[in-house]
Amino acid sequence: MYARAVAATTTALLGAVALLLPVHDARGIGARPEVIAHRGASAQAPENTLAAVDAAAGLRVRWVENDVQRTKDGALVVIHDDSLRRTTDVEEVFPGRAPWQVKDFTAAEIAQLDAGSWFGSAYAGARVPTLKEYLRRVEHHHQKLLLEIKNPQLYPGIERETLKVLSNEGWLDRRHLAGRLIVQSFSADSLRAVHDLKPAVRTGLLGKPPEADLPGYARFADLINPSHTSVSQGYVSAVHAVTGPHGKPLEVFVWTVDEAATARTMAGYGVDGIITNKPDVVRRSLPRS
Ligand code: G3P
Ligand code: CA
Repeated sequence: MYARAVAATTTALLGAVALLLPVHDARGIGARPEVIAHRGASAQAPENTLAAVDAAAGLRVRWVENDVQRTKDGALVVIHDDSLRRTTDVEEVFPGRAPWQVKDFTAAEIAQLDAGSWFGSAYAGARVPTLKEYLRRVEHHHQKLLLEIKNPQLYPGIERETLKVLSNEGWLDRRHLAGRLIVQSFSADSLRAVHDLKPAVRTGLLGKPPEADLPGYARFADLINPSHTSVSQGYVSAVHAVTGPHGKPLEVFVWTVDEAATARTMAGYGVDGIITNKPDVVRRSLPRS
């Protein structure tokens, strides 16, 4: 009788403990998700500028995300929109050039633009960085980079060119490949191209493909990176159950999470990374692992 009572109590206690334990994720039980500064610390400084990288470093955030596109004369630059209009003064500097597409301007023209004043006068004179300048600043701060190839359909061959700049800047050595670089895109074709050209590079597919399609994407993608609004704990577990091109479970970085409560929910789902404009808010909201 006593033994049965002890056994029942033990079972109940174990059940309660299991409920309190963080869920299993691809990097181990209860690992704290990585925090990734979206377009740099973009709530603090103008997105995708060196100032936003510096702001992330000031917050001691290890990961930054950016967006890479190509100029008319073939330079790779860091900017989100396909037009220069929202985040620079291009309309004033080049009034006759609507719709001000990145691909229609040379690197020298883009270098003249102010990419900071729209955000705040303290950032007047900030520039649209080249990928080379950006990589050097990230390296300077010993940070890690989630590099998004943006709008690859506008820039045929951008995958090879991006890898060339990464290589020239020392970002394809073993140390960077092992843990400091992920290339992501909404385009599966673009990621497949990156993987075929340089299989050692880790890649992430943006979006939420059906679970049945995950094994196909896992031939060339190491991560599946959906909007936080679209994921469930079941989906995260389904992604983790698939093995990626480097022999490890696929991982999940969700975007763009700026609320503490949402960050906690995502951590409870077992995501591996949280991409945020407010890395300080997200980091504060997560329990230490
Ligand atoms: O890193 C995820 C996120 O950057 C994808 O959306 O439009 O901000 O590039 P977007
Ligand atoms: Ca992006």
